[in-house]
Amino acid sequence: GQVLDPGATAVAHPNIALIKYWGKRDEQLMIPYVDSLSMTLDVFPTTTTVRLSPEAPADSVTLDGSPAEGEQRRRVVAFLDLVRELAGRTEPAEVDTRNAVPTGAGLASSASGFAALALAGAAAYGLDLDPTALSRLARRGSVSAARSIFGDFAICHAGRGTSEDADLDSYAEPVPVPDFDPALVIALVDAGPKAVSSRAAMRRTVETSPLYRSWATSSAADLTEMRVALRRGDLDAVGEIAERNALGMHATMLAARPAVRYLSPATVAVLDRVGWLRANGVPAYATMDAGPNVKVLCHRTDAARVAEALRDAAPGCSVVTARRGPGARLRTGAE
Ligand code: PMV
Repeated sequence: GQVLDPGATAVAHPNIALIKYWGKRDEQLMIPYVDSLSMTLDVFPTTTTVRLSPEAPADSVTLDGSPAEGEQRRRVVAFLDLVRELAGRTEPAEVDTRNAVPTGAGLASSASGFAALALAGAAAYGLDLDPTALSRLARRGSVSAARSIFGDFAICHAGRGTSEDADLDSYAEPVPVPDFDPALVIALVDAGPKAVSSRAAMRRTVETSPLYRSWATSSAADLTEMRVALRRGDLDAVGEIAERNALGMHATMLAARPAVRYLSPATVAVLDRVGWLRANGVPAYATMDAGPNVKVLCHRTDAARVAEALRDAAPGCSVVTARRGPGARLRTGAE
């Protein structure tokens, strides 16, 4: 009889950028304006299985047990179209994705999601890609996903070229940082979906914010300093640069017309508490993405104390402590 195709299953973890990506210079090819640098986490994995279904009339996409709809489904199908084009194949697929984190809440579910989909999709359609090519492919789903192909610290190059060159030029690669193993304490102040998608918010920022260009310029300088700080394993320097880079990114959004504001009163309460921790001798530094949640970088030995302070600052929030985590990987049959 016929054996059910087991498909390919991949697991990927989200990453948090210490130097942010914000704004695309090519929306079609998903090419960022700026380089970014991130830490891949050891929490909140996405597990995705891609199975070919030659007899099916169309792709089937399941997200956390329910059929994906609207924009979410459209993005996955468009990504599969790209994989099929690269592989010279046409069969529809069945995609099953499970996120250990709320989707679309500014917790990088698109990063782990498209990294896992790139890896599982490439394997299911028989594409043999090296990690650089995989990161390029993941980037077409979500720029931050390029970085989740790699574990620990990774840089995503914006590249320079135009059209086809631009695609080849923009990819992620590991940044070896042997002596830096901090904690990232995540305060989930609101796990609901965000009001403005990061895609729409970026476009508006690039098109209307008078602060965008100056942030992009200062971000390049931040990246240079960040690489030095990481090499030295200097938590205070890494934290200071990451915090100013993130606040600067949010400033560009606040100056967009109309403004995009992801930071909530609870975000600000947590930021105040991070400042209070520092004033009381605990090195702790905040970063925020396209949502109200705050991620706080600190020494592993201070993580419990930092977590308790954040819980106290935003009653009702949940707090999770992460460390540097693994790159995307295919699951073998035995697992
Ligand atoms: O790649 P996207 O669309 O998930 O955008 C991510 C943008 C930020 O999280 C705000 C910054 C970053 O570099 O991850």
